Amino acid sequence: MDQNALKALVGQEAVKYVKDGMILGIGTGSTVRYMIDALGERVKNEGLSIIGVATSDRSAKQAESLGITIKQLDEVDHLDLTIDGADEIDDNFQGIKGGGAAHLWEKIVAINSTKNMWIVDESKMVHHLGKFPLPLEVIPFGSSHVLEKLDKMGFNPSFRMQEDGSHVLTDSKNYIIDLHLGRIDHPHELANTLNGIVGIVEHGLFLDTVNTVIVGRQDGPEVLTARD
Ligand code: A5P
Repeated sequence: MDQNALKALVGQEAVKYVKDGMILGIGTGSTVRYMIDALGERVKNEGLSIIGVATSDRSAKQAESLGITIKQLDEVDHLDLTIDGADEIDDNFQGIKGGGAAHLWEKIVAINSTKNMWIVDESKMVHHLGKFPLPLEVIPFGSSHVLEKLDKMGFNPSFRMQEDGSHVLTDSKNYIIDLHLGRIDHPHELANTLNGIVGIVEHGLFLDTVNTVIVGRQDGPEVLTARD
């Protein structure tokens, strides 16, 4: 199976956990795209009645096109389960997200969700975080000074740019700075440091967040329990 087949596999597996009546957080990314397709099938074939809260405009659009009811986060009083992708997951089930520039909304949805499930192909499972560049969502105003500060701190930052030379913009119209760290030995310490820098809205370290991980392996989906 190639990587896309593994992504499809975990997307299809994840929707088995969705129950009638649930309010569901819907993540973002190429893996979640398969999950939304599979969810749309269940809504169509089984008449499954759920409400989705999307973590990006593109996920909302895809879900609505498949007949899934989408509400804003502020229109619901709770979320039962959020299903999202991840860029890296380490041995302690800590994660990096934001490769698709959606980690701010993803984190807001995740912390308001009773349970969080991540779906990944096996390439995302790592012993140490950091090979994948750590995304930061930053306010455009004064962002070159934030970049300079991060550079002086040795974090090897770069703005994420589009092919036409303009900044990648998030759904909140902010910029993304990626930190090329190589290896993150102390994720909690790093998170605290980044939380203290004015201008950074949110970083892509998702710590102590996930309950269940579904890993797409060649011999089938593996379900791992990270925490209850
Ligand atoms: C979106 O910003 C991300 O957090 C995604 O959830 C993550 O990048 C995984 O995306 P893929 O499924 O496309 O690898």
